[in-house]
Amino acid sequence: MLELRHLSYAVREDGGELGILNDISLTVGDGRLVVFTGPNGGGKTTLAKSIMGLVKPTAGQILWNGQDITGMGITDRARLGISYGFQQPPRFKGLTVRDLLTLASGDQRLSKDRCCQYLTRVGLCANDYLDREVDASLSGGEVKRIEIASILARNGSLMIFDEPEAGIDLWSFARLTETFEQLHAAGGATMIIISHQERIISLADEVIVVGDGRLRHRGTPAEILPRILADTLGGCPVLTKEAMAQ
Ligand SMILES: Nc1ncnc2c1ncn2[C@@H]1O[C@H](COP(=O)(O)OP(=O)(O)O)[C@@H](O)[C@H]1O
Ligand SMILES: [Mg+2]
Repeated sequence: MLELRHLSYAVREDGGELGILNDISLTVGDGRLVVFTGPNGGGKTTLAKSIMGLVKPTAGQILWNGQDITGMGITDRARLGISYGFQQPPRFKGLTVRDLLTLASGDQRLSKDRCCQYLTRVGLCANDYLDREVDASLSGGEVKRIEIASILARNGSLMIFDEPEAGIDLWSFARLTETFEQLHAAGGATMIIISHQERIISLADEVIVVGDGRLRHRGTPAEILPRILADTLGGCPVLTKEAMAQ
């Protein structure tokens, strides 16, 4: 179980303090799939990075299975089964896709077949990619999917995906959604997915709208999706009758 207690993150700005996360409290039960959504700049990535240990909260606590991990580094959190896929994944020149998956799995002798399975689950054809380097020659969507495959290979108990849909074509996206659905159905891992996609939001046990560094709304997809849609339509000038008539 993941527990956030009064979590805050503030930065210094122009002599004052700017609150990026403001007093967030949340419990995510084992095996649950929670989707964080909400406007850009709302604090979703900062929240995810705090859980992974990439951002150090300025107040509050993070507990994983009852253990206070607030002061713990990334490597120790990874050992506890926590993994995070970046919104914009880093590239690793000199490292092949197969190396990356092998490292992630912790199995020096990870078979080619297993590698292929992980890649297939994110919509990549393994033969084309296994020996490619994870460098600038890959597109953003490819790097993104390879990183997601590496999280699958790591097989942790808490998987955090930051906008997994970014830069991914519709076909691969369908495959990816299916993968998340299967992972969730298998019940082995707790999943937090940051997403703006209706198909991913629909998979959630709980949807949490994050805005201004706070948890704004929470509920089931059936409760939250219509409200997101209504908010978006209401707040988007392009879709007003006046704008359409022009
Ligand atoms: N280290 C930092 N210094 C100043 N501002 C930051 C820092 N980290 C994040 N922010 C700001 O905090 C807000 C939340 O960012 P982020 O967590 O990336 O939002 P989201 O992922 O919801 O789009 C943004 O306005 C961002 O510019
Ligand atoms: Mg973000």
